Amino acid sequence: MRKPFVAGNWKMHTDSQTSVNLAVSIVSGSREVAGRSVAVAVIPPFVYLQAVVRALSTSHIAVGAQDIYIERQGAFTGEISASMLKDVGCTYVLCGHSERRQVIGESDELVNKKVAAAISGGLLPILCVGELLDEREGGRTAEVVGRQIKSCLAGLSAEKLSAATIAYEPVWAIGTGLTATPQQAQEVHALIRKLIEEMYDSESGEEVRILYGGSAKPSNAAELMRQEDVDGLLVGGASLNADDFVTIIKAAV
Ligand code: PGA
Repeated sequence: MRKPFVAGNWKMHTDSQTSVNLAVSIVSGSREVAGRSVAVAVIPPFVYLQAVVRALSTSHIAVGAQDIYIERQGAFTGEISASMLKDVGCTYVLCGHSERRQVIGESDELVNKKVAAAISGGLLPILCVGELLDEREGGRTAEVVGRQIKSCLAGLSAEKLSAATIAYEPVWAIGTGLTATPQQAQEVHALIRKLIEEMYDSESGEEVRILYGGSAKPSNAAELMRQEDVDGLLVGGASLNADDFVTIIKAAV
């Protein structure tokens, strides 16, 4: 049985006060379910990680980082390692979010190294994949997502894969208000699960958690969660509003 998982990606939002306030409001709204019937994580900007970890210390809500660097330490100005993230209390880390792929130019090869570095460093990576609008319109969704999954998980053993969560985030649905229909999400999630079975084994396919992301909100969360292969949601915009995020958490139970 895959436990549902809801993660809130705060992106480059909040400040030292609002990050803590948001965390505290999420805890109080989701206390009966968070960490019990649904795993929950928030993913603040690096600079607010410690404050948010502190604010969540008596809760069952985990904290994740939005990115990671592939080396353990050294002369890599501006970068943050897995051990630093562990040190400040992170459990999860996003790898290959589409904004990093599109805006910063991260390749599948780099994302593959990030996933490996996260797992070696004791973090649980959330590997993000998803097609662009023209790729979907050109009928290339399966090809693009398949390539991303294969390249980004290259060289990873089944045991290591068990630390990873996959997030299917169609790029055309992120921050646009356009959500994939539950059927579109289910179709790609099923395809990813089948691919994991082929690359590894049926147990790995059965166990891997696959989240949907892309304009997930209170009004569509329950319907998305009803799909057989949708195990949770990676929420951007709606995770910045405590009431909305709590509603989504409850819809995932
Ligand atoms: P959104 O972002 O919910 O604002 O579309 C999702 C994401 O980027 O993870």
